[in-house]
Amino acid sequence: MKACIFDLDGVLVDTAKYHFVAWKRLANDLGVSFTEHDNEQLKGLSRDASLAYILNKGKISASASEKEVWKEQKNSWYLELVNAMPEDEVLPNCKELLHNLKQHNVKIGLGSASKNAKLILDRVNITKYFDAIIDGTVTSKSKPDPEVFLLGAQALGTHTNECIVFEDALSGVKAAKTGGFFTVGIGEPAVLSEADVVLPNLMTLNYEELKKIFTEN
Ligand code: BG6
Ligand code: MG
Repeated sequence: MKACIFDLDGVLVDTAKYHFVAWKRLANDLGVSFTEHDNEQLKGLSRDASLAYILNKGKISASASEKEVWKEQKNSWYLELVNAMPEDEVLPNCKELLHNLKQHNVKIGLGSASKNAKLILDRVNITKYFDAIIDGTVTSKSKPDPEVFLLGAQALGTHTNECIVFEDALSGVKAAKTGGFFTVGIGEPAVLSEADVVLPNLMTLNYEELKKIFTEN
């Protein structure tokens, strides 16, 4: 176990709920219903792919400029919520785990679809832990394509089979498994059954515990 690559929204920081609120607001404004199930499908997808899902659900065809306006609108609602977010929205044990992994010389990467990733890492004061940040500003393919995690492993100088990926999204678990990574799902086992291990959150984890999970599974 030489490296860990973390998804951001819903794994390290409790921002998945804000994406949900903002996408639901946009979908409803466009006359499209938006359920928890829809939200589950959108987790991990890029902004473009998420809008495409909503437009497809509502059978709405739109011009490129309309799509730009809607993505901008969703993002400004999302950022309003993020800007009001207290620093402690970083999820429990996240900082402790990152610190502990660093002490054991485990490389740490971010593998997120978000174009707001750096802003969020800064807001909750965890940027300093990351040796590589791969986010929506550098990727060209949305999860479940493994690109984001493969770029992460490459940037960290590790092979995929010595690297653990942490993901709360079905699309992200699929991306990590396709890339050949040991995958820890964070959330519901029923949703993330393709992961090697599923945990409700990061709370029980430290270097020793992770090494045990990695070698025993
Ligand atoms: C992912 C989230 O991390 O980033 C998605 O799971 C979100 O819900 C996607 O749509 C893109 O984020 P952003 O911040 O670039 O709009
Ligand atoms: Mg996520």
